[in-house]
Amino acid sequence: MSQERTGRGDGGLFAEESVDGFIHRAFLRGAGHSAAAVRRRPVVGICSSWSELNPCNAGLQGLADAVKRGVLAAGGLPLVFPTISISEPYSRPTSMMLRNLMAMDVEQMITSSPIDAVVLLGGCDKTVPAQLMGAVSAGKPALALTAGPRAVTRRHDGGALTIDDLWPKADERRRGLVSDDEWSRFEGCLNASVGTCNVMGTAVTMAVVAEMLGFALPGTALSPATSAARMAAAELTGTRVVALWAGSATATPPVPAAAMITPASIENAFRVVCAIGGSTNALLHLIAIAGRAGIRVRLADLRAWGTSTPVLVDVRPSGRYLLSDLDEVGGLPALVRELAPLLHMQTPTADGRSWSAVVADLPAASGPALHPLSDPVYPDGGLAVLAGSLAPDGAVIKRSASDPRLLRHTGRAVVFDGVADLRARIDDPLLDVDADSVLLLRGAGPRGGPGMPEVGHLPIPAKLLAQGVQDMVRVSDARMSGTATGTVVLHVAPEAAVGGPLALVRDGDLIRLDVEAGTLDLLVDDAELTRRRDDVQLPGARPARGFDQLHWDHVLQAPQGCDFDFLTGAFNESP
Ligand code: FES
Repeated sequence: MSQERTGRGDGGLFAEESVDGFIHRAFLRGAGHSAAAVRRRPVVGICSSWSELNPCNAGLQGLADAVKRGVLAAGGLPLVFPTISISEPYSRPTSMMLRNLMAMDVEQMITSSPIDAVVLLGGCDKTVPAQLMGAVSAGKPALALTAGPRAVTRRHDGGALTIDDLWPKADERRRGLVSDDEWSRFEGCLNASVGTCNVMGTAVTMAVVAEMLGFALPGTALSPATSAARMAAAELTGTRVVALWAGSATATPPVPAAAMITPASIENAFRVVCAIGGSTNALLHLIAIAGRAGIRVRLADLRAWGTSTPVLVDVRPSGRYLLSDLDEVGGLPALVRELAPLLHMQTPTADGRSWSAVVADLPAASGPALHPLSDPVYPDGGLAVLAGSLAPDGAVIKRSASDPRLLRHTGRAVVFDGVADLRARIDDPLLDVDADSVLLLRGAGPRGGPGMPEVGHLPIPAKLLAQGVQDMVRVSDARMSGTATGTVVLHVAPEAAVGGPLALVRDGDLIRLDVEAGTLDLLVDDAELTRRRDDVQLPGARPARGFDQLHWDHVLQAPQGCDFDFLTGAFNESP
């Protein structure tokens, strides 16, 4: 009501004696707030993606209460508000399709609501990047706190059951090796609590990214979802956001979230993703977050950063240890201390100190889950960015999760046109495939998928599984779950649906992957490809209405982070 008249979307009106100020206060008084409370500043929005349709984020209500305690203790007025929430397992056709919708929701709620600053509460994979993208565009001070990883199930033999154990178990089930009873017991014990996936999948990778970029307090990314440490971090986040607003309020305009996004902080975040053996999805999200601040991330930079950043973290799914093993030796700050020679250490953290100051007094960490720079787990980066005749605009592979024997490989293509075709034929005993084949899926990109479903981790054909084949080269314009492993080339761009070379591949064509050289090539001569281009039918069709149509019309390709073309910032081109 009042904002229609004034156009103001900050909390200042709560303290004014105008009619608008009166209306702001009167409506909160009606909700039971005291006369003193409704004049407090700053007004802090707590942007919660809690939802019963998103079990990973089910702990966010408790964290919101703790954030409120911190805001109140620091003199502010906390107000929790919801946005849409995106559940990785429940969203169809894919959670990625909804990321930009949630980013728009977050941005609009922050800009149009009478709040001075915001605390973002996310967790499940897409909720964190959506919130960061929206907050960067919204132009107000922002901090973030993620849901934290869920508890680990202990097995009878003393080992640990984590979410990545799902994939080999599902393969065993496909081979008929898991009874209904065992399958049902597995369903009951796979997830031991609320919280995000308990390996270095996309959710935890993005929690690390949020901390590295300076949105989440140092040392908080890995605290378990149900721990006292995470609850205390929530309270501190509430206190800190008030101080952040107070500090930025002296500047005109106040320092917005976008200030945390610089070329240096983006490089830092990407290098850390490589060093932790993080999810390939983080690459898309990081590019999109950078784009919101007008920073274009170039393929050449990604390749250079990727090849010069060793893997120092040995945790599942690509490593051997648990997230708690990394948390116990100091979490991200301990890693940053080791990786310091490769990072811009003067970039700010969420507590106001530089990373250099945060790690200054940290002792050298020791423990099998975190290696020193002098003795990396893997000397080359966890993520390798590729390019070549099959991927002129790039592709990515999680090198640390691949079979080293397949990192240089040439094989015959076995082509699947979309997910339905894949599901219909992958286990066909007559499928013409062997262990050296390259499984290729197309029509699963940003537009063709739509929304790049996490199907790039194509299952090994049943008849090869039965022969003991555990990994094959797989290539697609899709994404892959951060909890999956294998020699899987993803995000091939341009995708088939916009006429990329993937659309031209035929069964039997030779595809050459050379990760060390950074190449992915289709070994078919140009004249033949030109002939094929006249016959090709691009996958997908423009939806008739609604958000599906908006997505089709405006989604960008993987090298632009799959953001919408009308949401990216004005790019500050650098030489
Ligand atoms: Fe929600 Fe993994 S499915 S965090």
